[in-house]
Amino acid sequence: MPDKIANTSRPRVLSGMRPTGKLHLGNYMGALANWVKLQDAYECFFFIADWHALTTDYADTSKICDNIDDVILDWLGAGLDPEKCVLFLQSKVKNHAHLHLLFSMITPLGWLERVPTYKEQQENITGKDLTTYGFLGYPLLQAADILLYQAQFVPVGQDQVAHVELTREVARRFNQFYKIGEKEVFPEPKSLLTPSPKLPGTDGRKMSKSYGNTIELTDDEATVRAKLKTMVTDPARIRRTDPGSIDKCPVGDLHKVFSTKEKIAEVTEGCSTAGIGCIQCKGWAADSLVQILKPIQERRASFTVEQAQQILIAGSERAAKRAAVTMQEVDEAMQMRYPR
Ligand code: TRP
Ligand code: SF4
Repeated sequence: MPDKIANTSRPRVLSGMRPTGKLHLGNYMGALANWVKLQDAYECFFFIADWHALTTDYADTSKICDNIDDVILDWLGAGLDPEKCVLFLQSKVKNHAHLHLLFSMITPLGWLERVPTYKEQQENITGKDLTTYGFLGYPLLQAADILLYQAQFVPVGQDQVAHVELTREVARRFNQFYKIGEKEVFPEPKSLLTPSPKLPGTDGRKMSKSYGNTIELTDDEATVRAKLKTMVTDPARIRRTDPGSIDKCPVGDLHKVFSTKEKIAEVTEGCSTAGIGCIQCKGWAADSLVQILKPIQERRASFTVEQAQQILIAGSERAAKRAAVTMQEVDEAMQMRYPR
């Protein structure tokens, strides 16, 4: 049967996520919701980067499998559709490792040492020894992830742009050394910057799993309401009668992202005149969140874990087929076919 997705002439997109477990609203707004839109216009490959998880969490691998289950279920819940895009698991496509190895031969160490996340994370992540070969090479593994599918576009957040930049340099260097006749093997992929609105967590800082301030896609209504209750507000509103500003309040930021225009107007007015209380306002914010989460949770619940796993396995087979096409070209360009 011809592969309906792989045989289109739509530009190819690839992106990945580490299997960190249940996804939160920040992951949804910062990546997933955008992926769901892209799947209609592009030939999309989305994968769970389980080997990448090892670059920082190699010492404890006990949660990786469960985390993968959670991520694929959240993806399906969010509306990624295996009929429209290829959803796969990195470690099921061994050619990621093969291409990474070949790239490691041509990549100067300085390129990797210069990646801004390298020093940053080494300093910020404490309690783990990150002076490993794998950690230094992780952006190169990412380059292999992208180029293995000869992808033209990589939807990522600002924090990943430097990695796509490195990927372009690696593609250029490979193309300089090796060609098939006149033909270059790798296109230089471009970042598709995900427009991500400011999304604070319950403590007012950026929503992030490492801060423990998240609202998860699987949080039920009671949990959402309880989390909103403890959420920080405009510090100027100490008493109910103190006026505040929606622009200085994390709850206000949630309204701006998830509430209707009318509701935002009502909050803006009510907050600045002390016409409404924060408890009421948080209740409204919770209403908006519950509305967004409900269809996601319903769709998520329509899949069993086994079905989700099956989707990931089948997607990985499709991804492997596409990866093999690239590797044929790589071997030919590098004259690594033996015997001639
Ligand atoms: N490094 C990315 C992150 O931490 C995940 C990732 C791995 C990725 N390989 C990728 C993203 C390829 C885009 C393309 O979020
Ligand atoms: Fe924030 Fe709403 Fe309270 Fe204003 S009324 S400070 S926007 S929670």
